[in-house]
Amino acid sequence: MRTRVAIIGAGPAGLLLAQLLDAAGIDSVLVEQRSAEYVKSRIRAGILESGSVQLLREAGVGDRIERAGFEHRGIHLQWPGERHHLDFVDLAGKSVWVYGQTEVTKDLMATRERAGQLSFYEATDVELHDVDSDSPAVTFTDADGRAQRIEAAIVAGCDGSHGPSRHFVPERHRRTWERTYPFAWLGILADVAPSTDELIYAWHPDGFALHSMRSDAVSRFYLQVEPDEDLTAWSDDRIWDALATRFALDGWTLTTGAITDRSVLPMRSMVTSPMRHGRLFLAGDAAHTVPPTGAKGLNLAIADVALLARAIVTWLADGDTRLADAYSDIALRRVWRCTHFSWWMTTMLHRHGDDFDARLQLAQLQRVVQSDSAATELADNYAGIPIEGLS
Ligand code: APR
Ligand code: PHB
Repeated sequence: MRTRVAIIGAGPAGLLLAQLLDAAGIDSVLVEQRSAEYVKSRIRAGILESGSVQLLREAGVGDRIERAGFEHRGIHLQWPGERHHLDFVDLAGKSVWVYGQTEVTKDLMATRERAGQLSFYEATDVELHDVDSDSPAVTFTDADGRAQRIEAAIVAGCDGSHGPSRHFVPERHRRTWERTYPFAWLGILADVAPSTDELIYAWHPDGFALHSMRSDAVSRFYLQVEPDEDLTAWSDDRIWDALATRFALDGWTLTTGAITDRSVLPMRSMVTSPMRHGRLFLAGDAAHTVPPTGAKGLNLAIADVALLARAIVTWLADGDTRLADAYSDIALRRVWRCTHFSWWMTTMLHRHGDDFDARLQLAQLQRVVQSDSAATELADNYAGIPIEGLS
């Protein structure tokens, strides 16, 4: 089978790329190893930069964000005895949206189905071929056990942090940087109205805690735990007690509810360079991973894809390869900025090291809420820096 672009992975990166290409009249085939049901129900993070919302609107999937999402002016930063609101709109002129990645994925999948473009779910043995030639291909076994081969002009590796694509950039050209953090997050979803108007990021001697939300009736919480934490050691009561302790503030109470989902998330930073080799382009988690503290993972994937879609369209429609040639360098500059921000938020807010480290963290948090320039630096990064060449 032939197509213009073979896309590996139906996460937000692959699905959004497929949609932007379709809007420009470029056909693609999507190959995903999981089932469509699994992809639609996977619980992921939930913050969209306003630039990401704008790009999703342009891709035709903005309506539900506006109807079901919440626009937030900023976040609360907390440590024992103090909670401060940072107003991103005042500080940096930008808001953020609370809208689950799961919902973004569902919206994009529905649009793909309506477009009538081919997608293979439950594909196994996915392999890339000849990506440094003019006729690359992707082979796999489809859900019915049939061997498939897709020949394309371009292969887009959007297969997340465990996918095979980045390994097709030859080792002699590839460099990877990695940092594993000495803690993890225990994440829960609960059927309870949020106890806060906007997200609370809390530093506490027992460890970091985050209060997020999904709707008027569903809240999302995270607790810093050990990387090898045993989930069975956390009863519902223990989880609510830990959250109540870490978010404690005079005059404020945490409302509890039924916990409907729980999992432990590892915390890692990873960057791979280059993000292109021949006719293979990497986007999203296939090329980089950030710890979730800065809410950057989904937004970085969206920013990569905005650049990549434009590069592919100008190449395939006009024969102009300049944007494709610049893609990796431009994308990586933003990736490293967001990698730094995510690392900085993570190290400022999580308990690690000794009491000296704790004092430095508290001094940094004080600075962020007392100094306009320090607060603006956080606000500008969290709400999203511009995408070079696009805005
Ligand atoms: N073949 C086909 N598909 C694959 C393969 C494979 N061998 N390996 C992985 N995949 C699929 C995964 O099942 C997943 O659906 O690639 C998709 C990658 O999607 P994501 O992990 O969501 O990555 P991405 O689209 O880049 O989105 C980045 O997702 O993990 C979060 O924090 C991350 O928010 C960020 C966002
Ligand atoms: C979430 O709502 O899941 C969420 C929000 C902010 C983060 C990470 C996760 O920094």
